[in-house]
This record gives sequence, structure tokens and C-alpha cells, in this order.
Amino acid sequence: MDKVKIVEVGPRDGLQNEAKILPAETRITLIEKLTGAGIRHLEAGSFVAQKWVPQMAGTDRVFNQLKRLPDVCYAALTPNLKGVEAAVEVKADEVAVFTAASEGFTQRNINCSIAESIERFRPVIAKAKSAAIPVRGYVSCIIACPYDGPTDPVKVLSLVRQLLELGCYQVSLGDTIGVGTPLPTQALLTLLLSEIAETQLAVHFHDTYGQALTNIDRALELGIRTIDSSVAGLGGCPYAQGASGNVATEDVVYMLHGCGMQTGIDLQSLVDTGNWISLHIGHPNHSKVGVALAS
Ligand code: HMG
Ligand code: MG
Repeated sequence: MDKVKIVEVGPRDGLQNEAKILPAETRITLIEKLTGAGIRHLEAGSFVAQKWVPQMAGTDRVFNQLKRLPDVCYAALTPNLKGVEAAVEVKADEVAVFTAASEGFTQRNINCSIAESIERFRPVIAKAKSAAIPVRGYVSCIIACPYDGPTDPVKVLSLVRQLLELGCYQVSLGDTIGVGTPLPTQALLTLLLSEIAETQLAVHFHDTYGQALTNIDRALELGIRTIDSSVAGLGGCPYAQGASGNVATEDVVYMLHGCGMQTGIDLQSLVDTGNWISLHIGHPNHSKVGVALAS
């Protein structure tokens, strides 16, 4: 049967965008419930400046106090050397570096230009490699940027190429504001796949405009088999008040299982986890499947 790998980003990408800051204990319980539901690859947190992202403070405690399962990859997002050093210290299984295909977003997100971000990654990747930790890359704003408007696909290709050359094993393509529709998404992915292997690409769609599943379907048709998603659609969208953010893992898993694809995830356990974390966060579950299957 066709297998798809889910990279669960809720405990990092999701929680970093929630107004309510959760204690490390709740973040740990969330991660343990997710792995209990069959998630085998997740972002457990990030080592970033606390004044920028207070939600991720205490990621070291999360890593240190987690009951880690041997067959799960617990990843951390690391913007710079300080971040990767912290990730090595807690024995993260993977680190991720991130940039964007737009100058406006990169400047506001990590306070530097795209070219500077790439230069910053060199020592980060070298440090990770010296500790035998694999590195994943992210490119945000693959379709459009909230500040600079539409993104040129050629720019995305060039950045993906650079990240792979630097030593990332895979690059996750982020439609950060969720504006992509199937045809432009297909055109972008087709361009990328003209020179990059399917296994080196992952998709990271946001559902702000309700387009995530249809875009994921295009990616699957083109052979991509790694999908980032966030339980309960945690995270919302910082650029559109009250709107959805990351596509909900439950919705993706429901679609994949319905199409006869295997994920290794128990959908009902995942739904229960999504409804549990929504109560802690204090707003309705953003997953349609999570609401439909609430027990
Ligand atoms: P900066 O202000 O330019 O850097 O921030 P700095 O070196 O001058 O440091 C400022 C302060 O941060 C200092 O502390 C540093 O020690 C501290 P102070 O002296 O003011 O007390 N600092 C750190 N603390 C902890 N861990 C670190 C670290 N580095 C510096 N690693 C920096 C530059 C990159 C650090 C900052 O801009 C930052 O942390 N940005 C993080 C932004 C972030 O996390 N964004 C969200 C992730 S990206 C994303 O979500 C998109 C993605 O999901 C895909 C998608 O959806 O499209 C990946
Ligand atoms: Mg995201």
C-alpha cells in the first residue's frame, strides 16, 4: 500500500502562533498523546529568541522531560548557532532551518535578508552534521508573501537548490498564508520536480483559504509523500485574524486513509488529542474531521 509520512508540526508551528502560552508539562502531554496516536515524526519545539516567540520558551524542558520513543523523530527548529547548540544539548533527533522566498517575510521573521539567512545556516548545518543530526530546511511564502505579494517560482527553486546543496536532506515548502490554489501549486511543484527528487521535497500547506487538501492532493499526484500538518489545525493565521493556519492533521489523515494510503496513525486517537488540546488552548477545534468525529 502507498505510504505517506506525516510531519506533525502542531507542538511547534501550531503552538508558537497561539495567543495562550502553554506550560512545558502540557506541551509534553500533547507530544506524548501524538506519538501514542502513531505520529512518528514531529517538531517538539524551537530554540529561538524568547522575546520573539515566548510560546516556545522551555523547549529544553520539553525535550528533557519527554518520554521519548525510540522510533520517533523529535525535531527542533533552530534559526542560528545558539539554537542548534541548544538542540544538540538536548539530543534532538533532527534540526530545521528556515528561510523564505520573500525578502519582506525573512526580514520580519528572522531579522535578516534571504542571502544572510543562507550564510547563517552554514555554521548551523556544520554543527548539526558534527553531531550527526540530520537537517531539514523550510522555505516559507512559496506562493505569496503577506508583505511582498506573489512569489516567483524560480526564486523558490533557487532557494530549495541552495538548501539542499548546504546539506539539508529535505526541504519543506510552506504556503505560509494559505493563498495557493491547485493550478499555481501544480505549476510550482512541477518546476521543482523537474530537477529535484520527490523524496527531497515536503509540502507545508496552510488552510487559510480552504485550499490545503486540494493542494496536497496535487502534491500526492506528483509523487510527493511527506506532508506537514498540525493537530487540530493549531496555530491560526497571524495575517488574518480568526482564520485557519496549518492544515489539520486529522483532515489530512482522513483524506489519505480514504484514498487507501497508509500513515500508521490511529485517526480516532488523533481526533481525541485534537479535541483535548483545543480545550487547553481555549478555542474551537479547527479540524473539520476533529469536530465530526468528536466523541
Ligand atoms: P535578532 O534579534 O536579530 O538576533 O534575532 P540577536 O542575535 O541580536 O539576538 C537577540 C536576542 O535573542 C538576544 O537576547 C539573543 O541572546 C537571543 P538578549 O541579549 O536580547 O537578551 N537569541 C536567542 N535566544 C534563544 N535561542 C536562540 C537565540 N538566538 C538569539 N536561538 C533570531 C534573530 C533569529 C534569533 C530571531 O529573529 C528569532 O528567534 N526569530 C524566530 C522567529 C520564529 O521562530 N519564527 C517562527 C518560525 S518560522 C515559521 O514558523 C514558518 C514555518 O513554520 C514554515 C511556514 O509555515 O511557512 C517554518
Ligand atoms: Mg506553518
